[in-house]
Amino acid sequence: MSVQAANESGIGRGATVRAAAVGRRFVTPSGTIEAVRDFDLEIADGEFCVIVGPSGCGKSTLLRMIAGLDTPTSGELSITAHNGSSPTNAVVFQGRSLFPWLSIAANVEYGLKLQGLAKSGRDATVARLLAVLGLSKFANAYPHQVSEGMRQRVAIGRALAVEPDLLLMDEPFGALDEQTRFILQEELLRIWESSGKTVVMITHSIDEALVLADRVVVMSAQPGTVRAIIDVPFDRPRTMVAVRSDPAFGDLFNQTWDLLRDEVTRARQQQEGALVG
Ligand SMILES: Nc1ncnc2c1ncn2[C@@H]1O[C@H](COP(=O)(O)OP(=O)(O)OP(=O)(O)O)[C@@H](O)[C@H]1O
Ligand SMILES: [Mg+2]
Repeated sequence: MSVQAANESGIGRGATVRAAAVGRRFVTPSGTIEAVRDFDLEIADGEFCVIVGPSGCGKSTLLRMIAGLDTPTSGELSITAHNGSSPTNAVVFQGRSLFPWLSIAANVEYGLKLQGLAKSGRDATVARLLAVLGLSKFANAYPHQVSEGMRQRVAIGRALAVEPDLLLMDEPFGALDEQTRFILQEELLRIWESSGKTVVMITHSIDEALVLADRVVVMSAQPGTVRAIIDVPFDRPRTMVAVRSDPAFGDLFNQTWDLLRDEVTRARQQQEGALVG
């Protein structure tokens, strides 16, 4: 995939995300769960922001609120598009983003149909994106006929097809083998670098966070809040190899893991406490 090909896919510019003291409580039959508390963050137009945090700390809840699929119970969350219009977003969830009864091409085309785009425009966009993602040969295959890595590419293609201002990804590569993950990370880097989109991505991998992000947000154990924000200084355009061989990589990795380890330990203590109590 080339940067030129990605440019030709016609991807626009991004959105700004502002979260001020955002909180989310869930009232359940067994009590109230405070998933997110006092979450403050500003994500710049065009930024690649990666969120890490212990399991259950509220990452998916936060992403769902940014996507407009859920609403904060306190605080303010605002998303502003670069051109003043209503911001659009697309979400890539892990492993369950495709319609199994539609071909690969029809999955990528789906959102464009919803947008009311004419057939010729849809066909052109789908063909370009399939080429960018190395899937042209599989246009007529069905999701169950391709590998997990390919399905995840289709899911990303489907999200990109609608040219969202904001691309939201919840552990998009979590289920993939390491080699496929590396390939997709680099593909995502190329697409993003030429698109100007704002990306918010959740991962459990510190390594992945440092390869992709402009900033890594480390969330605390539940209730999730911002524990730290780490600036990732590596030059763009990036390659995984260049980032990993940069002398600063090891320090940043350790710094991130130190913060995360504290929170993971706290989360485990909470869970053990809940089991005992
Ligand atoms: N709809 C809901 N109703 C009740 N509780 C919920 C709901 N959604 C999330 N929670 C709770 O909120 C907390 C945060 O969940 P969330 O899925 O956001 O965590 P996460 O950081 O994405 O975890 P993981 O890394 O395991 O995906 C958890 O305690 C979860 O049980
Ligand atoms: Mg989650």
